[in-house]
Amino acid sequence: MRIILLGPPGAGKGTQAQLISKRFDIPHISTGDILREAIKNKKPVGLKAKTYMEKGELVPDEVMNKIVTLRLKESDCDTGFILDGYPRTKTQALKLDDALSQIRQKIEFVFYFETSTDVIIERLSGRRICKNCHAVYHIKNMPSRQAGVCDKCGGELYQRPDDKKETIKNRLEIYGRQTEPLINYYQKLNKLTKVNGDLAAEKLFEVLLKIFAGRRNE
Ligand code: AP5
Repeated sequence: MRIILLGPPGAGKGTQAQLISKRFDIPHISTGDILREAIKNKKPVGLKAKTYMEKGELVPDEVMNKIVTLRLKESDCDTGFILDGYPRTKTQALKLDDALSQIRQKIEFVFYFETSTDVIIERLSGRRICKNCHAVYHIKNMPSRQAGVCDKCGGELYQRPDDKKETIKNRLEIYGRQTEPLINYYQKLNKLTKVNGDLAAEKLFEVLLKIFAGRRNE
């Protein structure tokens, strides 16, 4: 399965991607995680991306296109993948089409997580991430068993610097301007499925599983 998850910051794309990845054993490709890992390891691409990410702005298309094009060529993507956070601009979407056609692959599902703004703000302000394995928690909705410690690997949980109120506002504005047009783009290609991002995580996962099952029975 080749899947794109579209939706505003905090819509729950990463959370659903982790569930889908575990269920179907396909890689979760989060461009945000790739960039945060590059920052942590002081890689040149990370140093370049850091200034954009701190302000909630998008990292330049050419940087992102190179990262994803290389990642999709890795062998674990042969049977499918989940793209979370990419494409985010029309230029990135066109580049992805091009990269996939070169390896004779096609996107099968594009899910758009329709999510209300108050839900987004509540989710982002309570989000905690594992420094080590990137597992996602929420202090109220999905707390770890021990505060500040990852259930999966025992790593330390932290709050993303771009989950501050002022940066969230900027991220939402940029999302509206640069990423929302992709909804139309994939709708015109007849690939888009809208799902309710406000649902609880396990409910939304059930909705996605039904859609996958329905497609398999077609
Ligand atoms: P990125 O890491 O991709 O951030 P984002 O798109 O803003 O999305 P988020 O990770 O904030 O939200 P999410 O939808 O994954 O929600 P989550 O599941 O975590 O990008 C960060 C930055 O990197 C960008 O600003 C940009 O600078 C750069 N970048 C990345 N890709 C780029 C690209 N392609 N081009 C250019 N720049 C790029 O959930 C949020 C919280 O809610 C969690 O606490 C979770 O536990 C909770 N939660 C999730 N689902 C539910 C639910 N259903 N019910 C209740 N709580 C829930």
